[in-house]
Amino acid sequence: MPSLTLTAVSKRFDSVQVLDAVSLSIADGAFLALLGPSGCGKTTLLRLIAGLEVPDGGEIRFDEQVVAGRTAFVPPERRRIGMVFQSYALWPTMSVRGNIEFGLKVAGLASAERAARIDEVLEVVGLRGLGDRRPHELSGGQRQRVALARSLATRPKLILLDEPLANLDAHLREAMLAEFRRIHSLTGATFVFVTHDQDEAMAVATHVAVMDRGRLQQIGTPEDLYRRPASPMVARFIGRGRTLPVRVVKADGGRNRVMLGQQLLDLPGQAPVGHGWLSFHASDLKRVPEGGELKTELVGQVFQNGAFLSHCMPTEIDGDVVSLPLSERLKPSTPVELTFTGGWVIGDGQRACDAGVTRRVETAA
Ligand SMILES: Nc1ncnc2c1ncn2[C@@H]1O[C@H](COP(=O)(O)OP(=O)(O)OP(=O)(O)O)[C@@H](O)[C@H]1O
Ligand SMILES: [Mg+2]
Repeated sequence: MPSLTLTAVSKRFDSVQVLDAVSLSIADGAFLALLGPSGCGKTTLLRLIAGLEVPDGGEIRFDEQVVAGRTAFVPPERRRIGMVFQSYALWPTMSVRGNIEFGLKVAGLASAERAARIDEVLEVVGLRGLGDRRPHELSGGQRQRVALARSLATRPKLILLDEPLANLDAHLREAMLAEFRRIHSLTGATFVFVTHDQDEAMAVATHVAVMDRGRLQQIGTPEDLYRRPASPMVARFIGRGRTLPVRVVKADGGRNRVMLGQQLLDLPGQAPVGHGWLSFHASDLKRVPEGGELKTELVGQVFQNGAFLSHCMPTEIDGDVVSLPLSERLKPSTPVELTFTGGWVIGDGQRACDAGVTRRVETAA
């Protein structure tokens, strides 16, 4: 059963359409990352799910219950959600236990039950023994664990996290990501995790929803987004992907024949005949001595991860620079011929997320 369903959810602020008919459905226990550039509407979407904003149109359901829609609105405190923000929002004068206990008191739990719950969540987030500290006596990572413990203590079905790692350094972020994954599988709650960092999203989530300017572009597994992007935006946004314009001349059972300049290529894809895009990553390119499908000229190299990351400008078609690691240093302007060992063809007008709108996001094993 889906635990969260959004149907054509829209929101305007003044004259700006911040969310435009966003529809998605996620199953119980999923870990969904909401990914997109700054200002695309991620926080607004989270606030709508939490009940901190009211949608102008569309409907939000938790399981079968409508929590926001034309005729119903369930206030935030009755939605059984937990929220974790970038700024931990802890009470500075209260101990860790006091911070966690607050919500349990509001929920009306008896003292013994509160103490048991606090012990339980401190154990889950790895802070046993630190219950009497105050927030200023904790590191940033520990504070974020307290914020998470506080949101878990009321045993919500849905946990909303808005850039919870943005204040932490890169090393700690990685450790906390692993923690979030562990805690997610331990609690079985559904997590919705907002980030604009795609590496973070791909590392932590069972499913990723990519947003752009208020619209859902695609929802799928990290691998779906990487291998089968639904739109040029997703292709370029995920995994430093590149796109080149092509003409699709044949569409047949999950494969496309395309013209890239004067070259005919057969590649996986579901694009209709007409104008389209070839999307690919560095790992889909191979340098060949001659007869390459893409003729380019070297414009620059950077030594990275033990190889020369080489930026090459197409010479016979109108397209952006493509990049791939090469083992040798080359002079600028050296001709570099490339063939494609992989890639994915996208139609020009292909509306994103067609498959994702109603497709249920299964919980990862
Ligand atoms: N209360 C508000 N009143 C007016 N405009 C708002 C309000 N809240 C958000 N916006 C606008 O809505 C758009 C989306 O904002 P939102 O905070 O949802 O983006 P975001 O994807 O979370 O961005 P970031 O990654 O920078 O946090 C922005 O243009 C923002 O200025
Ligand atoms: Mg935001």
